[in-house]
Amino acid sequence: MFIKNLQEFKNKSATLKGWIYNLRSSGKIMFLQLRDGTGFCQCILERETLKQVQGDKRAEELWNQAQKITLESSVELTGTVTEHPKNKNEFELQVKDFKIYQIPSEEYPISKKEHGPEFLLDNRHLWLRSKKQWAIMRIRDEIIRATYSFFYKNNFIKIDSPILTPNACEGTTTLFDLKYFDLGKAYLSQSGQLYLEAAIMAHSRVFDFGPTFRAEKSKTRRHLTEFWMMDAEMAFCDHECNMQMQENLILYIIKQVLKNKKPELEILERDISKLEKIKAPFARITHNEAVKKLQKLGSKITAKDDLGAEDETLLTKDSDVPIFVEKWPKEIKAFYMKRDSENSDVVLGSDLIATEGHGEIIGGSQREDDYEVLKARIIKEKLPLKEFAWYLDLRKFGSVPHSGFGYGLERLTGWITGIHHIRETIPFPRLINRITP
Ligand code: 4AD
Ligand code: MG
Repeated sequence: MFIKNLQEFKNKSATLKGWIYNLRSSGKIMFLQLRDGTGFCQCILERETLKQVQGDKRAEELWNQAQKITLESSVELTGTVTEHPKNKNEFELQVKDFKIYQIPSEEYPISKKEHGPEFLLDNRHLWLRSKKQWAIMRIRDEIIRATYSFFYKNNFIKIDSPILTPNACEGTTTLFDLKYFDLGKAYLSQSGQLYLEAAIMAHSRVFDFGPTFRAEKSKTRRHLTEFWMMDAEMAFCDHECNMQMQENLILYIIKQVLKNKKPELEILERDISKLEKIKAPFARITHNEAVKKLQKLGSKITAKDDLGAEDETLLTKDSDVPIFVEKWPKEIKAFYMKRDSENSDVVLGSDLIATEGHGEIIGGSQREDDYEVLKARIIKEKLPLKEFAWYLDLRKFGSVPHSGFGYGLERLTGWITGIHHIRETIPFPRLINRITP
């Protein structure tokens, strides 16, 4: 049984297994704060109660053992579940018996006092147990669940794309390479997109969800070198349809988190009203308009520039909803994006920028579906034609208009939880200067 289900055991006996995350004691009574993975519960151990239940001798033994319990001791506590005298729906355990699995032989390194980020990251294997970190991981998991359920409701299937690949998907500057037997260099995947484009010709709508890798030189609060990406791809779907699907997905994810993870959001002191305001339709602006707007607001951005982190914050500062920045200059976007038929200088791609300064959470586009145009692009960008032969093949045999997008799970989790640096939104972050624990 788990703390999460305690209310079903009101006034009945229950056994909880977990770890002590806080405790205080007077001569006759101990208050043990227990966490069991599903929640937190105050367990009360009274010397008198022990005597009544266990008899004097055994009670004395148990009481003496209990005095040795310290932070992060692992225990099994048995007792009666009672409702908190003041807070309805909060339950406590009146302990009648217990078993100790282990009492730590040294002091637990993470205490209630403030620790610096490097210390906490060095102790990530322990830090994961802290209440806030616990809440973040639960919300991350809810986002994953909501994503799967959204896609299954919308006729997608999951297709797993490879991690070891012979070529780049998102530019050659951030590739991690490794030696691959006699076949030369292989690269760690930056996105499964290209493989999903193959899979839609078999399944129409597909998504993947897995680790992706970028040798990002950037040391910002939004960059990891290993992060989890969800890519989605749809046949017979244009740029407009693509943005609609992204909007529906994000709205669904937020709805599910608000429905199922309120206690976790409270632990994180997330301003829930900000999430509740996120409704359809999301704002839209072309890259060109965005540049003009940003220049007025004092940014140094020019017509062919990517948006910097500060630009993204500036652009969304008065918006309650995320903003699609669409129709980007072709020079600064990936080779596979389709040109706008009304203006061949721009591509039918969009970045979705989150509110509250959390920046880009999704990148997506309609894909070039014409064989000759795509081939010319690959040659122009000096990409290895041989490695892209299979990708070009898709434009030979039943090519269709198609689009897709990818979100970064840590960016999305960072935004929804309101956590400043995305290193806290992945269990074991990999950063330019960190690969442990
Ligand atoms: O915008 P990106 O580069 O798009 C793609 O990779 C497309 N192939 C996706 C697709 O169309 N299927 O990356 C997608 C998202 C970004 O919007 C961002 O949320 C996240 O991945 N991302 C990162 N997250 C953490 N650390 C990094 N270094 C990231 N780089 C991208
Ligand atoms: Mg992007």
